[in-house]
Amino acid sequence: MNLLKISLITMGLVTVASCENATTSTSSDSSSTKKEAILKMKRATDHHSYSKPAEAVVTHLDWNAVVDFESRTIAATATFDLETSDHAEKVILDIRELDILSVQVDGKDSPFNIGEEQEFIGSPLSIEITPLTKKVSITYNTQPGADAFLWVEGSEDANPFLFTQSQAILARTWIPCQDSPGIRFTYNATVDVPKDLMALMSAVNPTEKNAEGHYTFVMDQPIPSYLLALAVGDVEFRSVGAHTGVYATPDLIDAAEYEFAEMEDLLIAAENLYGKYAWERYDLLVLPAAFPFGGMENPRLTFATPTIIAGDRSLVSLVAHELAHSWSGNLVTNSTWDDFWLNEGFTVYFEQRIMEAVYGRDISEMLASLSYRGLVNELSDLSPNDTHLRLHLKGRNPDDGMTAIAYDKGFLFLRMIEETVGRAQFDAFLSEYFTKHAFTVMDTDNFIEYLEGTLLTDETTRDAVNLTAWIDGAGLPENCPKIQSDRIENVDIAVASWASGELATSDLLWNDWLYQERYRFLKSIPSSVNVTKLDELNSTFKISSTGNNEVLFAWLEQAVLKGHEASYDRLETFLINVGRRKFLTPLYKALLDTDQTNMALSIYKKARPNYHSVATGTMDELLNIDGGE
Ligand code: BES
Ligand code: ZN
Repeated sequence: MNLLKISLITMGLVTVASCENATTSTSSDSSSTKKEAILKMKRATDHHSYSKPAEAVVTHLDWNAVVDFESRTIAATATFDLETSDHAEKVILDIRELDILSVQVDGKDSPFNIGEEQEFIGSPLSIEITPLTKKVSITYNTQPGADAFLWVEGSEDANPFLFTQSQAILARTWIPCQDSPGIRFTYNATVDVPKDLMALMSAVNPTEKNAEGHYTFVMDQPIPSYLLALAVGDVEFRSVGAHTGVYATPDLIDAAEYEFAEMEDLLIAAENLYGKYAWERYDLLVLPAAFPFGGMENPRLTFATPTIIAGDRSLVSLVAHELAHSWSGNLVTNSTWDDFWLNEGFTVYFEQRIMEAVYGRDISEMLASLSYRGLVNELSDLSPNDTHLRLHLKGRNPDDGMTAIAYDKGFLFLRMIEETVGRAQFDAFLSEYFTKHAFTVMDTDNFIEYLEGTLLTDETTRDAVNLTAWIDGAGLPENCPKIQSDRIENVDIAVASWASGELATSDLLWNDWLYQERYRFLKSIPSSVNVTKLDELNSTFKISSTGNNEVLFAWLEQAVLKGHEASYDRLETFLINVGRRKFLTPLYKALLDTDQTNMALSIYKKARPNYHSVATGTMDELLNIDGGE
């Protein structure tokens, strides 16, 4: 590999395809070769972005912003460095819910055009340029209801909080950008916030507040727009290892420091598996409970829900997951949202390998078994076309692709390959995959080509793997691996004999079980079990007062399904305080399925103002409510 090729790769400018093509150039002019490499990069068409990177593509962002909690807006200027083609006439950025005030091209005020708005996608912001243009600058305001944001109101005991969620296509609601995962850029930022709050980004972060509320950020490794992130809140930092630390509000910082004390071990285990961690530090920010996800892999700073603070470190697999994205997703990025399984399937596989390395095979097999069960349950709700690994999300919200298919079918696919070729070979393949494609994008076709050219070179192995059935076929192919977890099987036996009355409640081994076993038990209670028996379970093991939110969630779901009214206050507080969609959807669904629609609606009315747009989008649809803001 020549030096130029290495520098292009570290700059994130080369894809798999262009690795072979563009960098063999003999041109002595390295800047024009670099330009070629960026512009001619073979990108899959992204149906969720207006950008036309072959004409002009952004390479760096300077973002200067002032955050105003009162008006719930950010006033900002985004200045992009461009690489332009010889015929460039315009650069197109994605915008949605933004008020564009002015545009400058190389320092001169310039006309711009905002095209028609499409649902989810927003509008194209077209700016006239020439092949000589170096920079475009956009001055704009965000809107109070912008979908990426959640502004959490302050109270007597808590300061206000703001966080963003950019994945999949919400970055464009707070920064005009080429909002496509196939386009990477570095960024610098300055952010002004109220004096008692700290600002954090997916970049090099401060560890202390400063008196002026003025923060500067540098992210000098190129990232796709969906990894742009900002949080503003009254947070403190605690180091938990040489490269790891946690940020949380004062009420949670001690608990967070304890809960995530093993983060450095996870990082070391991950490096031992698939190579050096590329992002220098791995810190975790505990967000308000309204965060719609469990975690989000923003580079250098995972955003996480406080619902994983269980007091006993039992939910750290989520940290393993977000950490794993530092390779699968953040280094090698899905080219479009149709290739989402390349991010999430690899990450679930990697997560479980980290868990196995740190906590043992028993634990990782329980997780694998739960992942398998989750997938089987979800398969019946999905239309067969949505059960292929390769998705077809054109004209749809990419959020529709966030199902167990990308995650768990993706994981099982990789596990099947591991079992077919052997772990040593598969690990060598993955290490090389991450190293070779670091800071580039991957789409499903290129992945197949790479896999067939490296690991699956012989026909017998190719036949055994049956790529077509997994990638473009429905459901679970015949060669799906069998997950064997004795502990989970014992729980399945216990729940059956308890339900049939053979096993007394007091004889259940609940107190010896880990959270995964308790969760499995609750999730498996058959409809034949009545509310009296459920109540006995609760009074014997005090389930409704557990500190483990996964267990609490599974309990509340059963409580709703069986009409355990004594738990309804707890249910209401949970739904009002927690905005994690993975919990909300099944709980509201359970209320609807048991004809408790009025209760669902009355709780939702109180809870909705606390939720992020990602959650209200799904819940409005489920509860048939016109969000109409
Ligand atoms: N990157 C995802 C979250 C995401 C995906 C946000 C698609 C928006 C669009 C994150 O890594 C994730 O998978 N989170 C899971 C955690 C889990 C599987 C351990 C979650 O939040 O539940
Ligand atoms: Zn993930």
